[in-house]
Amino acid sequence: MEQTEWNELRTAAVEVMAHAYAPYSNYPVGAAARTDEGRVVVGCNVENAAYGVALCAECGLVSQLHASGGGRLTHVVCVNGAGEVIMPCGRCRQLLFEHGGRDLLVWTVAGVRTMAEVLPDAFGPDDLEGMK
Ligand code: THU
Repeated sequence: MEQTEWNELRTAAVEVMAHAYAPYSNYPVGAAARTDEGRVVVGCNVENAAYGVALCAECGLVSQLHASGGGRLTHVVCVNGAGEVIMPCGRCRQLLFEHGGRDLLVWTVAGVRTMAEVLPDAFGPDDLEGMK
């Protein structure tokens, strides 16, 4: 994907970040991803008075992925309230791995990297093969 397209994805993340509900942390997050079918899916964080119940932006994104028809994530970027690229938290790396695998490209604070680099030796669906 060209840098122009990455920038469009980041713009989508910034736009959805504006809809975040983050009254407790004051740390809005937006996430945007492209799918293998060419769709763009987005999500923002949604906090809760019971702090631990907060939903990360990536949770909303994955929900939208499935609600809008499914597919695989191919490119993803997350931004903070200043529009700066941030790393997905550990839990969300796992969440994204499930839906994009090792080859998912992540725009990180150190440039574009694969999910295999961002979450090395990940536990995933393959580990459960044969257990069903
Ligand atoms: N947050 C996300 O939405 N995604 C991440 O990957 C990092 C953290 C949110 C959770 C919480 O609402 C706020 O950022 C501060 O941690």
